[in-house]
Amino acid sequence: MEYTTLGDTGLEVSRICLGCMSFGTSEWRDWVLDEEESVEIIDRAVDLGINFFDTANVYSKGESERVLGTALDGRREESVVATKVYGDMREDDPNSGGLSRKAIEQELDASLDRLGMETVDLYQIHRWDDDTPIKTTMRALDDAVRRGKVRYLGASSMWAHQFADALATSDRLGTDRFATMQNHYNLAYREEEREMLPLCARANVGVIPWSPLARGFLTRPAEDIDATTRGESERRMYEHPYREGGGIEVNERVEELAAEKGVKMAQIALAWLLHRDEVTAPIVGTTSVEHLEDAVEALDISLSGSEMDYLEEPYEPVRVSGHE
Ligand SMILES: NC(=O)c1ccc[n+]([C@@H]2O[C@H](COP(=O)([O-])OP(=O)(O)OC[C@H]3O[C@@H](n4cnc5c(N)ncnc54)[C@H](OP(=O)(O)O)[C@@H]3O)[C@@H](O)[C@H]2O)c1
Repeated sequence: MEYTTLGDTGLEVSRICLGCMSFGTSEWRDWVLDEEESVEIIDRAVDLGINFFDTANVYSKGESERVLGTALDGRREESVVATKVYGDMREDDPNSGGLSRKAIEQELDASLDRLGMETVDLYQIHRWDDDTPIKTTMRALDDAVRRGKVRYLGASSMWAHQFADALATSDRLGTDRFATMQNHYNLAYREEEREMLPLCARANVGVIPWSPLARGFLTRPAEDIDATTRGESERRMYEHPYREGGGIEVNERVEELAAEKGVKMAQIALAWLLHRDEVTAPIVGTTSVEHLEDAVEALDISLSGSEMDYLEEPYEPVRVSGHE
């Protein structure tokens, strides 16, 4: 495993982060694994040297956090665990979501309980909350750090002007600031290259892209996307503009280069991200040990400058997707 420093936190994280949205309960989504199979994948990730795990309170309505906490029991100290707050946790409780002080304090305690941890390494805001001033959110998050419940703060998909506002607000207030940005970024969706990635580079913010394989779109030929349970049933796969712009040609070039190098399409898509200077660690989602091993092997794939260009060339600007 390769390790790298996460932004300016001083934390050393594996260059592959394991996404835990696929773990918890199949009652939430039919492609999500139940506990026993989830633990098997997390165990294998630990064996492979992965020490960085990303979950959220909303994944499987808390079950993802519970399963991750169970799987890491006894090896908690060697792991870097990230979770998130923002989504509504209870339909009948409008204060169970958003980024008010009340939501942050209550939902953080609930996340820690489920994870079986006193402190979470990285606490991320899942989205921007238009109803709460950012200074309220930053103060509540900073208090959580001072109370020893959170080690570092992170943010996820939003406009770059909002992220710049959040960073400036914490500097002005003298509070802890966001050390990471978890954004939607892959070979088929590159709008983040315009504003967000240069901002992160300038502010030394660690970049941990979600859906690095475009939710599976970059793992097989476009005409075979329906071939898996998730491919068949997941709405978002179709809502994101992966097929727009030059998406289909990007998919074909990934397939072509994978065949040329004798590796899998998923490995080419991950290798591309791992070669981008801005990227700290992609957050890979999988429900199979074999696919997890593919991701780790992608670290050994070298892409030349002309291969990077070849993969990037067909991309055309598409509508913003992920936080809109
Ligand atoms: N912050 C946010 O708003 C946000 C949003 C979405 C996701 N996330 C985070 O990002 C993580 C990853 O997201 P994701 O699961 O949507 O995206 P992803 O990693 O881009 O794609 C996962 C899909 O790719 C397939 N796949 C993975 N490796 C493969 C391989 N080697 N060969 C063939 N297929 C392969 C998986 O199938 P198998 O299951 O069959 O392996 C699955 O269908 C999540 O777990 C979560 O932690 C965050």
